[in-house]
Amino acid sequence: MSWVDPWLRGSLLALSRSESFKRLAVRLPMTASVVARFVPGETVADCLAAVRSLASEGLTATIDYLGEDTTTPEQAAAIRDGYLELITELSAAGLCEMAEVSVKLTALGVGLPEGRELALGHAREICAAATDAGTTVTLDAEDHTTTDTTIGILAELRREFPETGAVLQAYLHRTPADCELLSGAGSRVRLCKGAYAEPDEVAHQTREEVSAAYVACSRILLAGDGYPMLATHDPEMIAAVDELARQLGRAPGTYELQMLYGIRSDEQRRLAASGERVRVYVPFGTDWWGYFIRRLAERPANLAFFARALFGR
Ligand code: FDA
Repeated sequence: MSWVDPWLRGSLLALSRSESFKRLAVRLPMTASVVARFVPGETVADCLAAVRSLASEGLTATIDYLGEDTTTPEQAAAIRDGYLELITELSAAGLCEMAEVSVKLTALGVGLPEGRELALGHAREICAAATDAGTTVTLDAEDHTTTDTTIGILAELRREFPETGAVLQAYLHRTPADCELLSGAGSRVRLCKGAYAEPDEVAHQTREEVSAAYVACSRILLAGDGYPMLATHDPEMIAAVDELARQLGRAPGTYELQMLYGIRSDEQRRLAASGERVRVYVPFGTDWWGYFIRRLAERPANLAFFARALFGR
């Protein structure tokens, strides 16, 4: 979050739920070229091509089959099937060692009536396929109303699939306690700043507060026995993680840095070349709208670029 006024961010994220704005924006030819910066394509083949290209530069990947806020059980089953196909293709391409998958539980139907069991069932099938193929699954973090459910489902999945990971968002006041809870041996936690518009009661609002929380949470994870995955593009956070890892005696390979596809790509390559383990989050699919709007909301320059594309100036 660098640093967009919280009101503007909130308005933009709210606008992302407007069907009429979405219909207008996705029809404009310029939208596709702006989206392509963040989403390498709509098909599994596009995604595999991006993953291969990252691998050639020493980068690993985590793949998000785009979808969220599913409204029917059929949609949830289709997302599950998309992941199962993706894992089959990753395995056939021999890419399971360097690519895992990231999953949003709302895409698997957790928000539907009786959705918890539905999403858990689908997530189990995805974890089982990933385990058979020799790769792992990480549960994405969505807005704060979903955090308890996500952590509960994580605990159930880890009984059968101990390598299942989850994302924690440093901006939430609760996250230091969640980091403590998930810092034990075998735990895989991706720490990010947080991308949703959240109220004061649950989340830090200023850049300084979020940065301080990010460093504090990184410290808890790096001091623990799990496998921390520090997801940030922020040079200050990367330097802080580096320093903490040194202080806490974390050897290279016992944690990793993560960034999003298309953001600070040169830095991703530079860090990998310097010996850091770096993983890139690669989203693909036709349902890119919500993901794309969150990337715009993170950075004023993206907003200006998209506005110029939209209004032809
Ligand atoms: P910050 O926003 O300060 O950015 C630092 C610098 O990075 C900027 O100055 C700019 O150079 C560059 N940058 C960052 N964002 C950019 C953008 N959108 N476009 C262009 N440049 C940009 N969030 C969430 O709520 N749930 C989740 O599950 C995840 N998952 C996730 C996985 C991974 C691998 C990453 C890297 C991030 C997420 N996020 C996420 C998003 C995260 O919460 C956060 O919104 C972004 O990473 C931006 O925060 P930074 O830490 O990068 O700092």
